[in-house]
Amino acid sequence: MHIVALHNLKGGVGKTAAAVNLADQAARGGLPTLLWDLDPQAAATWCLNARPGLGRAPKKLFRRNAPIGKERQRTRWPYLDLLPADESLRHLDALIEKGKDGGRLLHGLLEPFSESYGLLLLDCPPSFSRLAEAVVRAADRVLCPLIPAPLSLNAWRQMEGHFDRRRYGRDKLRAFLTMVDRRRRLHRDWVAARPTSLRRCYETWIPYSTEVEKMSLRREPLMAFAPRSPASVAYARLWSELAREL
Ligand SMILES: Nc1ncnc2c1ncn2[C@@H]1O[C@H](COP(=O)(O)OP(=O)(O)O)[C@@H](O)[C@H]1O
Ligand SMILES: [Mg+2]
Repeated sequence: MHIVALHNLKGGVGKTAAAVNLADQAARGGLPTLLWDLDPQAAATWCLNARPGLGRAPKKLFRRNAPIGKERQRTRWPYLDLLPADESLRHLDALIEKGKDGGRLLHGLLEPFSESYGLLLLDCPPSFSRLAEAVVRAADRVLCPLIPAPLSLNAWRQMEGHFDRRRYGRDKLRAFLTMVDRRRRLHRDWVAARPTSLRRCYETWIPYSTEVEKMSLRREPLMAFAPRSPASVAYARLWSELAREL
C-alpha cells in the first residue's frame, strides 16, 4: 500500500481539493483507495458527501492495532472509501505526543489497511501537529500544493528545512503548482520555468477554476460533474505523474 500525504503549513492552498480528486482518479483506475480526512474541519469528508465522526470513543479507537478500519465509510464511487474527519483526532495527537514512539502507534493503525487498499491518501491539517509529523514519516510521498507567489517559496523552504532537521528525507517531498491564473504574470512565469529553489516540483499544474470551488456545493469529485474541465484533466495528469513514481 502506497501512502501519500497532502501537506502544507498554509491553509487554503488546495490540499483538500487535490486529496479528493487524486483519490478519485486512483479509484477510477481501479486502485482500491482510502482517503483519511485528518483535518477536523472535515472539508474532504464534506466533499465526498459523507458524515464526519468516528463511531467509537477515542480511547478505543486509537489503541495500537485497533481495528480503526471499521470506521471507514464506503462512498458512492467504487474503490473509493473514506475515513471521515473526527474531533477525536486531537486525542490521537495527544497520544502520539505522550507516547515515546508516535510513529509506531500510527504505523500500527495504518498497517491493517494494506490488506484492503493499494493507496492511502491523507489530507493533513495546515500545521505540524504530532499527528502530521507521524504521517509525514510514514508517507512514501508528501505532496505540497503551492500557489505561485514569493511567499510560497518561504513555505516550501520551511518544509524542506523541517524535513531535513527531522530526517524525514526530503526526497519524498513534492511540490505542485495550484490555483494557477494565467492572466497573472508571475503565474505564467512559474509555469514556464519553476523558480530554481523549487526542486522536485511536478510538471503538472492545477489551473484556477470555479469548477473546483463547486466541489463543495456538489459534494463530489470534479470528475463526477465536470470531467472535461481543465482542472479535472490536470488532476488526472497529476495522478499519472504521481502513480509513475510509486
Ligand atoms: N484550483 C482551484 N481553483 C479555484 N479554487 C480552488 C482551487 N483549489 C482549491 N480551491 C478553493 O480554494 C479553497 C481552499 O481549497 P482547499 O482545497 O480546501 O485548501 P486546503 O485544504 O489547503 O485548505 C476552497 O474553497 C476550494 O474550493
Ligand atoms: Mg484542507
